[in-house]
Amino acid sequence: MHGQNVVVIGGSKGIGLEVARQALARGARVTIAARGEAALAAAAAAIPGLETAVVDAADAASVRALFARFDTVDHVYHSAGTFVGGPASGDVAAYRAAIEPRIFGIAHLVAATEGKIPAGGSITLTGGVSTDRPAKGAWITNVGTAAAEQSARALALDLAPVRVNAVAPGWTDTPMWEGLLGEDRHAAFADVAARLPVGHIAAAADVAGAVLFLMNNCSVTGEIVHVDGGHRLI
Ligand SMILES: NC(=O)c1ccc[n+]([C@@H]2O[C@H](COP(=O)([O-])OP(=O)(O)OC[C@H]3O[C@@H](n4cnc5c(N)ncnc54)[C@H](OP(=O)(O)O)[C@@H]3O)[C@@H](O)[C@H]2O)c1
Repeated sequence: MHGQNVVVIGGSKGIGLEVARQALARGARVTIAARGEAALAAAAAAIPGLETAVVDAADAASVRALFARFDTVDHVYHSAGTFVGGPASGDVAAYRAAIEPRIFGIAHLVAATEGKIPAGGSITLTGGVSTDRPAKGAWITNVGTAAAEQSARALALDLAPVRVNAVAPGWTDTPMWEGLLGEDRHAAFADVAARLPVGHIAAAADVAGAVLFLMNNCSVTGEIVHVDGGHRLI
């Protein structure tokens, strides 16, 4: 990836940060973008060579400002999003965090990168196992991951010859779960791992490896790569 320019939206932690680490190791110039400055600074301190930018994926002007820095961007990974629980009868305002960065954020990304990604370059979106195996009681998250995966298929046609794909993680050990479950995450991870064919939940680096594959294989577009330890089979 020498000489290539990679931008990771949602790159200060978790899967996005591992994508940044792996792209940097392959020689790319990598910019990680997220809302929180402290996590961006910590990531840059831990991984020399990373560039950082503050962005809110749900805000069109913010995403436009991020990409205004670049004439050309070879690959974008869009990781921004989170798990939001609650039934469809719940508070609609609370659902915004699950869909604004993930659905409208994709629209902002497409608009802001227009004309900047060369033929064969790529956008990789983030779906999840909840598309095929909906998480009970988390309606909007299930909808959000499905929307990201369908966006990959639809945009692979609309944005061609730019390639558009999605990675669909299963349970993955990232700071997201620390925020959602705290210390209870260890028991939850063990419970899921015991049921998975592979016997363990994924590391962020496992999911990042799939993203790097999607960035680098010039014949793959409109594809959803599942990194879920076989979760869809159980
Ligand atoms: N971990 C799992 O088990 C799992 C499973 C399936 C799908 N996923 C999905 O995979 C993606 C990455 O998950 P993860 O576990 O790596 O999450 P994470 O550890 O919480 O990291 C999320 C990253 O996205 C950034 N972010 C969140 N909202 C943003 C916004 N509006 N604008 C810009 N940056 C934003 C966060 O930084 P700031 O908060 O500072 O902005 C952080 O850098 C998410 O979409 C998640 O829903 C995760």
